[in-house]
Amino acid sequence: MGASEKSARPRIAGQRILSGIQPSGIQHLGNYFGAVRQFIALQEGNRAAYFMADLHSLTSIRDAKTRRELTRAVALDFLALGVDPKRSILYRQSDFPEVTELAWILTTVTPMGLLQRAVSYKDKLAQGLSPDHGLFAYPVLQAADILIWRADCVPVGQDQKQHLEMTRDIAVKFNLTYGEVLKLPEPYILDDTAVVPGVDGKKMSKTAGNGIEMFAAEKVLRRQVMGIVTDSKGVDAPKDPDDSTIYKLYALFANPEERAALADAFRKGGLGYGDAKKALLEKVQAYFAPAREKRRELEARPDVVEDILRDGVARARAETAELMNDVRRAAGVGAPKGK
Ligand code: ADP
Ligand code: TRP
Repeated sequence: MGASEKSARPRIAGQRILSGIQPSGIQHLGNYFGAVRQFIALQEGNRAAYFMADLHSLTSIRDAKTRRELTRAVALDFLALGVDPKRSILYRQSDFPEVTELAWILTTVTPMGLLQRAVSYKDKLAQGLSPDHGLFAYPVLQAADILIWRADCVPVGQDQKQHLEMTRDIAVKFNLTYGEVLKLPEPYILDDTAVVPGVDGKKMSKTAGNGIEMFAAEKVLRRQVMGIVTDSKGVDAPKDPDDSTIYKLYALFANPEERAALADAFRKGGLGYGDAKKALLEKVQAYFAPAREKRRELEARPDVVEDILRDGVARARAETAELMNDVRRAAGVGAPKGK
């Protein structure tokens, strides 16, 4: 598999892993190759927990039905793509009340200046979101997600690096105030060299409307792939593969021989963009066929998914209960120890 060879990195083993995805839109190839695929791989030999950050999505999505649908979609995506509830924990953030309890405790030791420096807050205001307290306190809730799990390693995209640094700063503040209770996590920045281009050639993103959504209906998926923007070179004209979005996307799915063959055909001329797109579409369909099937089955069994989430959050709460007791004891809240 091409992309996995490219992003080979030192093996992580025996670590506590945590990451979350905000249910803020339909997931696309960029989310899969840039994040979810690594989440799946990190399950092997580590203790991993993944969750749908629906409380975080409250800061941007104001419609209950939309949030429920998107949260469910992310859960289905996770499970269909290979998050294995037997090995890892999958939960919905809002089912885990200790996270918000910890978030409040952390808020009380978080300097205003730290939050005021958050780039993501400024970016979100620039995008037109209203400057409310939830948006401002977003990184504190994220710190609670991470610190409650005593995560060693938090796989996130480059854009989340500052939130990880803030998490460490907040943990240090807590530890200085109340004693060494919280463990400082390491970021595990997902490979940014492998930015997946969208149909317009720019970074694929939920908000840009340039996505290829692996679980979209067949017709939609076809429209998205066939809609990849190209220059106007005719069938016979030689084409530069390195300049082609079709080639870059194809390379994510193809083996080295297939990649070389497409690059060659582009350079020689004689291969039109339409046929290249069809080849890409076939690759996307074949690659995700088993996951689509699994997703379809799970979609028809919402009770099964809810059972997985209920079991996941029960295990997450059990596994983090001791830490929360340490936090409460250190801060002097909750029933005194032993009572
Ligand atoms: P989006 O940018 O579509 O809103 P998110 O910000 O929710 O996506 O990103 C979720 C994860 O997917 C992050 O870890 C991010 O790095 C990764 N990701 C998103 N888009 C891409 C892309 N085009 N290429 C590679 N990784 C991506
Ligand atoms: N802020 C992250 C994002 O937008 C989502 C997130 C919430 C998260 N809590 C987290 C990621 C904890 C990693 C760990 O992508």
